[in-house]
Amino acid sequence: VAAASGHTVVLVDQSDEILKKSAKGIEESLKRVTKKKFADKPEAGAEFIEKTLKNITTSTDAAAVVHSTDLVIEAIVENMEVKKELFKTLDKFAPEHTIFASNTSSLQITNMANSTTRQDRFGGLHFFNPVPMMKLVEVIRTPMTSQKTFESLMDFSKAVGKSPVSCKDTPGFIVNRLLVPYMMEAVRLFERGDASKEDIDVAMKLGAGYPMGPFELLDYVGLDTSKYIIDGWHSLEPNNPLFAPSPLLNKLVAEKKLGKKTGEGFYKYK
Ligand code: 3HC
Repeated sequence: VAAASGHTVVLVDQSDEILKKSAKGIEESLKRVTKKKFADKPEAGAEFIEKTLKNITTSTDAAAVVHSTDLVIEAIVENMEVKKELFKTLDKFAPEHTIFASNTSSLQITNMANSTTRQDRFGGLHFFNPVPMMKLVEVIRTPMTSQKTFESLMDFSKAVGKSPVSCKDTPGFIVNRLLVPYMMEAVRLFERGDASKEDIDVAMKLGAGYPMGPFELLDYVGLDTSKYIIDGWHSLEPNNPLFAPSPLLNKLVAEKKLGKKTGEGFYKYK
């Protein structure tokens, strides 16, 4: 999305194999977007794809490439210690002006910022799946985020074609604070045997106008991600019934049924 809006992007991951897979995913997603955007102009569409892909290079060494960045967006595993370790390393190699942002769904940004010496140039940039389609970005400011950094993150979000909203550094920010308890309530409704998961999904699509039902959305987001979020909140607020863990969700994750990405979650996928 950043590359498609003219930004130079270095995509970093752990191995060339993963980067190759990501590049393929980006190309396929770009083709979908282009098909619509340039429906009557296939030549302009091909040019758009070529130009966008040219804006992206890849690397497996974040510390080696961070010297040429204005903004780092971290989207690695949802593990605080691993994130802090990465930011601590990047802080040593990044230029003074570079802003660090995390795409975390539920972890505290302040805690990550404290692993660096640039707490004023640190914030959250939370995108939504599928990123090319979802217009929202949550911009998270900690008590230490400077006004200049906050404005830069808002400006960047607009420059990549999104509509930013801002939120304090609170668990789940806006969307997940409302969405995750809702999805967990759907699982509990199903666990109690009050309705089938198929009927709950149909009900929320046709009765509330949601594009996906809660079980379809859980499978889409990933059951491991959802469990990780709810477990984290439960440990922060063990008496909050909205954050109670679900035996069924735990069972599916233990069986490695993580949703669409593994071919099975609440539903089976081909
Ligand atoms: N890349 C590019 N375009 C994509 C895409 C992708 N990965 N996935 C879907 N699209 C586009 C399609 O090209 C299509 O465009 P068109 O309608 O203009 O032709 C459009 O999206 C609709 O796709 P489909 O026709 O294939 O399928 P649907 O009509 O069922 O829509 C959906 C798919 C957009 C995913 C829709 O179901 C939806 O909006 N679902 C809800 C998604 C949601 O709630 N996301 C937030 C999850 S929470 C989160 O991300 C936070 C995290 O921290 C946990």
